[in-house]
Amino acid sequence: MSFKNKVVVVTGASAGIGATIAVEFAKESAKVVIVGRNQVKLKEVAENCKKLNADCHVVKADVTNENEAKNVIEETMKKYGKLDVLVNNAGILREGTILDGGLVKIYDEVMNTNLKSVVVLTSLAAPHLIKTKGNIVNISSVAGTRVGSPRFTAYCTSKAGLDIFTRGSALEMGPHGVRVNSVSPGPVKTEIVRTGGMNDDIGEWKSFTALGRISEPQEVADLVLYLASDKAKGITGSNFVCDNGTLVFKP
Ligand SMILES: NC(=O)c1ccc[n+]([C@@H]2O[C@H](COP(=O)([O-])OP(=O)(O)OC[C@H]3O[C@@H](n4cnc5c(N)ncnc54)[C@H](OP(=O)(O)O)[C@@H]3O)[C@@H](O)[C@H]2O)c1
Repeated sequence: MSFKNKVVVVTGASAGIGATIAVEFAKESAKVVIVGRNQVKLKEVAENCKKLNADCHVVKADVTNENEAKNVIEETMKKYGKLDVLVNNAGILREGTILDGGLVKIYDEVMNTNLKSVVVLTSLAAPHLIKTKGNIVNISSVAGTRVGSPRFTAYCTSKAGLDIFTRGSALEMGPHGVRVNSVSPGPVKTEIVRTGGMNDDIGEWKSFTALGRISEPQEVADLVLYLASDKAKGITGSNFVCDNGTLVFKP
């Protein structure tokens, strides 16, 4: 699955799933643009890509800031002159319910990060992807299908919106030769719970899965590379679930 001469933008590439996706594309000889806010972590990921002899470019950006999102695409064009794959991975988890009054407080932050930024980046990237007949992979979640806990209603709402946006984008861009798909993981071993300020041990969420395990970021990255590759040339508007059986699990 070589991505030689392909230019790939990965948002949220400073940590977790996005960092692994960036390194996997680097292994397959892609030119990788890694995006996030934490420059120290972005530098570490860039060094890991460069150790693989990959061409890697860091763009520090908050994807919720439209000017900074614009700069991601502009920098990519300036540096590499084209865009083949956009991976919209940046995302956050926050907790807050209707009755504890927290939902309204976190709603804008969650929706702006997990959904609006994808709408903005997709719109900015579309003309460039049409030129290369490229594709987009959005990182959604099984939370877009199932509300596991009312603590995460905002997150679930953002991912449900992302699933529909993926399908709408695929419908609009299909005639232009651009594919758009999503991957929906169940629980994955990353820092998302900790950075969201929660005390949950994500490892314990294995008890909500049929297989009794949680995934490594690598498992998500493998699917992303498949969907971004020509092997998936007939796949668009699809949502690939890799959840250890979360959606079939009955507590
Ligand atoms: N881990 C799971 O169990 C799980 C399950 C299903 C779906 N997902 C999805 O997978 C994606 C990655 O999550 P993860 O688990 O890898 O989380 P993570 O380890 O917390 O990493 C999140 C990444 O998103 C970036 N990010 C967050 N807000 C951003 C912003 N405003 N602008 C730019 N970058 C931003 C962070 O970078 P900076 O801090 O440097 O900005 C970081 O690189 C998310 O969309 C998440 O919803 C995760």
